[in-house]
Amino acid sequence: MSLGCCVSSYLSINAIDFQCRGIVTNLREVLVHQELNETLTTLTTVTILAILESFHSVTVFTTLLPEEQEKMRAAGNAAASVLDMITPFVLPGVTTEDLNTRCHDYITNDLQCIPAPLHYTSSADIPPFPKSICTSVNQVVCHGIPSPTKVLKDGDIVNIDITVIKDGFHGDTSKMFFVGEPKPFAKRLVEITQECLYRGIRTVKPGARLGDIGHTIQSFAEDKGYSVVREFCGHGIGKKFHTAPQVVHYGRPDTGASLIEGMAFTIEPMINLGRRHVRILSDQWTVVTADRKLSAQWEHTILVTSNGYEVLTLRDEEQFV
Ligand code: MF3
Ligand code: CO
Ligand code: CO
Repeated sequence: MSLGCCVSSYLSINAIDFQCRGIVTNLREVLVHQELNETLTTLTTVTILAILESFHSVTVFTTLLPEEQEKMRAAGNAAASVLDMITPFVLPGVTTEDLNTRCHDYITNDLQCIPAPLHYTSSADIPPFPKSICTSVNQVVCHGIPSPTKVLKDGDIVNIDITVIKDGFHGDTSKMFFVGEPKPFAKRLVEITQECLYRGIRTVKPGARLGDIGHTIQSFAEDKGYSVVREFCGHGIGKKFHTAPQVVHYGRPDTGASLIEGMAFTIEPMINLGRRHVRILSDQWTVVTADRKLSAQWEHTILVTSNGYEVLTLRDEEQFV
């Protein structure tokens, strides 16, 4: 029997189980409300779906209940406040380790939250992430590891990526900073990348599809002469840091999963000045552009609402949405 047959038969059986609070959108996408998701035990539908997911045959999406959305709002606000707190300290001469220490102390002492990156493991063969934030300078695309030897200098661009866990829920957001005076070509890359994020966000509403978000971002970035990183993407978020769906920043309109009220995910485009290709350094985390040209990234955590979106990690300085 082909895998395709297996998929259909499992799903037709399990579609029945899901009728109370899950929604089967098609044979490749299943929505499960978080509450239901948690009441299911091992060797039930979720396990079967997880196995099917590992074959890339089906994607399980979780939507958040209103009280869970409220906790995501609080987590998002907390993460955003870390970026506000660190802003005056991003200066020439400061090390990325200094930034990490300040953010770690603020997250743990002031916010009483957990810095999600610290000791985070994405897979068994990669060492846990050793720091509390990611600091990605110039040609570093993402997942830069703060270091006492990495001194910021005038003209650098740096992404600071913050994820906190508050009351069991994650808020994930990042922004670009100019260290001293930016070069015009760096400033333009950073500003266009922010606009990519904003345009992606404005695409979000129930019924819109993931491909619409990707297409909006890709077409804007490429029109400006930049390229979109393919290997890393936005992600579903909630009690877990990284979950389905994968929110890629390229694609075709009217393709991919449809968005539904109550879904939460990040949009976090990584846009390169040169070619889109990336390398991973020997530390197994740091992602750099293959051509060592500049890369920029901005990230927000988004909730799909009844008629559009809510930016859970919005900062006061942002009035656009
Ligand atoms: N915050 C990153 C994201 O946007 C993930 C960082 S994982 C880490 O998804 F381990 F590198 F911190
Ligand atoms: Co993220
Ligand atoms: Co992030």
